[in-house]
Amino acid sequence: MNMNTSHNWTTASIPVLTGKIIVVTGGNSGLGFEAVKAFAEKGATVIMACRSVSKGENAKRLILELFPKAIIVVSELDLADLKSITAFSNRFYEQYSSLNILLNNAGIMMGPYCLTKDGFENQIGTNHLGHFALTGLLLPMLKKTPKSRVVNVSSIAHKQGVMDFSNLLYENGSGYTPMKAYGRSKLSNLLFTYELQRFFEKNKIDCIAVAAHPGVSDTNLFQHAASKWVMSILKPVFSLFVQSASMGVLPELRASVESFAKGGEYFGPKGKGEMKGYPVLVNSTNDSYDLDNAKKLWEISEKLTKVVYS
Ligand SMILES: NC(=O)c1ccc[n+]([C@@H]2O[C@H](COP(=O)([O-])OP(=O)(O)OC[C@H]3O[C@@H](n4cnc5c(N)ncnc54)[C@H](OP(=O)(O)O)[C@@H]3O)[C@@H](O)[C@H]2O)c1
Repeated sequence: MNMNTSHNWTTASIPVLTGKIIVVTGGNSGLGFEAVKAFAEKGATVIMACRSVSKGENAKRLILELFPKAIIVVSELDLADLKSITAFSNRFYEQYSSLNILLNNAGIMMGPYCLTKDGFENQIGTNHLGHFALTGLLLPMLKKTPKSRVVNVSSIAHKQGVMDFSNLLYENGSGYTPMKAYGRSKLSNLLFTYELQRFFEKNKIDCIAVAAHPGVSDTNLFQHAASKWVMSILKPVFSLFVQSASMGVLPELRASVESFAKGGEYFGPKGKGEMKGYPVLVNSTNDSYDLDNAKKLWEISEKLTKVVYS
């Protein structure tokens, strides 16, 4: 089947998901919220992993108004805090015995230089290291679930990403710009996805790693990209390029459930510049396939998070 021409893939293509256990990070807002809604509508048990439980409960209430039978469990997860990630994982093991899909969706973009609780630069710490630790901690559960899947969310901005292992985390802010760090975090999401897929293959684990990006979607992500004043001026221009969150989430959803998807594939919108449109297979940069950098990133991520994959 040609996944790029056959039809316009929408949520109508999502199969029944009754009995499936799905974790969505950042499930209370934007694309994550749309993903939780779509999975829950199809009958999955969705764990909405949020740093703010009250925001999560509000988001859950909104979805229950639409789909009263939805099974959604709000669970606290702060990806900028390794203790919180461990606590989330421990709670998960107490409550569930399988994990079909781990959708690593949460993210921040272009904030000022600051550190996570563990002293990592915040964008790389949250967007990459937090998800690296979470995935590693949930690995035993993914291993024992047949045909499980990890989906990482990258961005067109990965094309601006440059890896520099002599100063991966912009120590003391040296060399930091909000855009450079965001680009590096999103390139890391892809390097990690492809290395994870190689890890699964090498260890004969019945799980695949897939990536997706949403083009440019109207969510809360842009709150740090420019001041409110600048955004109010840019909004009319911005709206020409941007798509709704319910469209933007489709590549993540397709990457999560497409039965033809293979490990190491990357989904994004099919429109011009991949900014909007229905989800299809897309290409990432040559840098994202760099085997050396993927290995280095994996090793340094294990060292920093103290989560070792085995
Ligand atoms: N929107 C776009 O055009 C676009 C483009 C390319 C890639 N992306 C990617 O899409 C993903 C989703 O972003 P979005 O556009 O839906 O933005 P969003 O509306 O701002 O949602 C981001 C989600 O991530 C959560 N989050 C942030 N920091 C966290 C942390 N430390 N621990 C746990 N959760 C955290 C947020 O929680 P709070 O609500 O508490 O802040 C929120 O739920 C991100 O990975 C982003 O990089 C988006």
